[in-house]
Amino acid sequence: MPSSRPRVFRPTPANLARLAALLRRGGLVGVPAETVYGLAADALNPAACAAIFTAKGRPTTDPLIVHLATARDLPTVAVTNAAVAPLAQAFWPGPLTLVLPKQACIPELITAGRPTVAVRVPGHPLFRKLIRLAGRPLAAPSANPFGYISPTCAAHVRDGLAGTALRAVLDGGDCAVGVESTILDLTDPARPRLLRPGGIAVEAIERVLGRPVLRPKAPRLAVTTAAPAPGMLAQHYSPRTPLRLHPRLDAAALAVLPADEAALLLRKPTRLPCPADARAGRILWLSETGADNEIARHLFARLRALDTGGWRRLHAEIPAGSEGLIPAIRDRLQRAAARA
Ligand code: TXA
Ligand code: MG
Repeated sequence: MPSSRPRVFRPTPANLARLAALLRRGGLVGVPAETVYGLAADALNPAACAAIFTAKGRPTTDPLIVHLATARDLPTVAVTNAAVAPLAQAFWPGPLTLVLPKQACIPELITAGRPTVAVRVPGHPLFRKLIRLAGRPLAAPSANPFGYISPTCAAHVRDGLAGTALRAVLDGGDCAVGVESTILDLTDPARPRLLRPGGIAVEAIERVLGRPVLRPKAPRLAVTTAAPAPGMLAQHYSPRTPLRLHPRLDAAALAVLPADEAALLLRKPTRLPCPADARAGRILWLSETGADNEIARHLFARLRALDTGGWRRLHAEIPAGSEGLIPAIRDRLQRAAARA
């Protein structure tokens, strides 16, 4: 029902002031990040944060990321250490989230009762502007119903969270990165641990830290609402249509695809068995050249387009390799294809 959908606001100074006031009153706002759109609320207001969990249908065992306008504010929400400054210098504002011991002002609900808090300074200037105008840190998970494909434009948020307490979305255009931030546990600066691959390559973090980052050994944990490690649910980012992954979908594979199934390729094919399939939205691709940043930028929107296309089954190519954004792309595709 259109009337229950949140309103999308253009980023005018008047609208920004209005949305900041809404946040200060404990309201929810859909916000553009460089990674994916977020569902933001005042991080220092437990009732406002509780509304995030309700709107998303998210279990309260899954903690939220706190967003700051500048790294200078970090000590107000977290206890920093020697490894933080070089990383903040290199990657903030940007898609890197650090997990650190929390300060007392951070509500238990945000951290799911943990002694640590996840923090980042987002790269999208409108998000930082809104934090500054609101005058407080903003808690924000991705602005999708729990478990569904993450939103990378304002319309995804408006349609996905219709009928919830969310009344307003700030339009900041399409997300430039397209996958969520990299999450690094820095509670022990001598043993940095990767919790989620994302928009910053782990090799780049290792170069700045001058030491190796521990990778999770077995990220595919059981699907449960009480995940043992936050963010490690095997099934996540999932289309409603069953999805099957393939190392490669060449012209021969596409030619034998059943007529009611659709495919997502990593790069534009040189030849299609039936060019009408591309026009009909049955065969989509994520990049012209195979570049990881282009694949990441289009991943969620194209997956969503196929999911709403009425196909019986989806097929997607999964990239090989461990450099750059490839681990994040692989991670999102694997979770999207996992079934409970
Ligand atoms: O790019 C992003 O990170 C986006 C934008 C909006 O900033 N946010 C995002 O939030 O992806 P969300 O809630 O979808 O994912 C945050 C992940 C969750 O899997 C959560 O479990 C993990 O961060 N997390 C939050 N606090 C944590 C903590 N104290 N320790 C470990 N993991 C934590
Ligand atoms: Mg999410």
